[in-house]
Amino acid sequence: MNHYKTQDNLESAFAGESMANRRYLYFAKKCRELGNEAVAEVFEATAQQETQHAFAHLELTLAGENLTVERMLEIAIEGELYESKHMYPEFEKTANEEGDALAVKEFAEQATESALHAETFKKAAKRFKGLTSVEARHAAHYQATLDTLKS
Ligand SMILES: [Fe+2]
Ligand SMILES: [Fe+2]
Repeated sequence: MNHYKTQDNLESAFAGESMANRRYLYFAKKCRELGNEAVAEVFEATAQQETQHAFAHLELTLAGENLTVERMLEIAIEGELYESKHMYPEFEKTANEEGDALAVKEFAEQATESALHAETFKKAAKRFKGLTSVEARHAAHYQATLDTLKS
């Protein structure tokens, strides 16, 4: 059986539900600005459910991955670097060609932000690696102490 199409569909469903979540939160903010608290709350409540839908799709999408802390940081770093080095520069170029100055500015700013996010994740990965080796040293030390006590 070929699951590739379903994998693509799961990714699309994840993207769609994720977008619905952010769109509804944005609409809630706008409704509140327009003085309609009741509809703002409907949008917020629905947005929470869209998050659950998105998580369910993501869970199936990533089912084949061994999601260790290192792996998740790696996935995040890859994504942010893709945005900052490839996606936003391409988008900025096109916006330039099409004379959309606001989009040019936004894409340039977001490319910088994505690069900063990649750095943040890299630092976290380094700290985590440091912590794990400290823990491994402690564990080895305790084991050695135990072994001494036993002998
Ligand atoms: Fe949904
Ligand atoms: Fe980011």
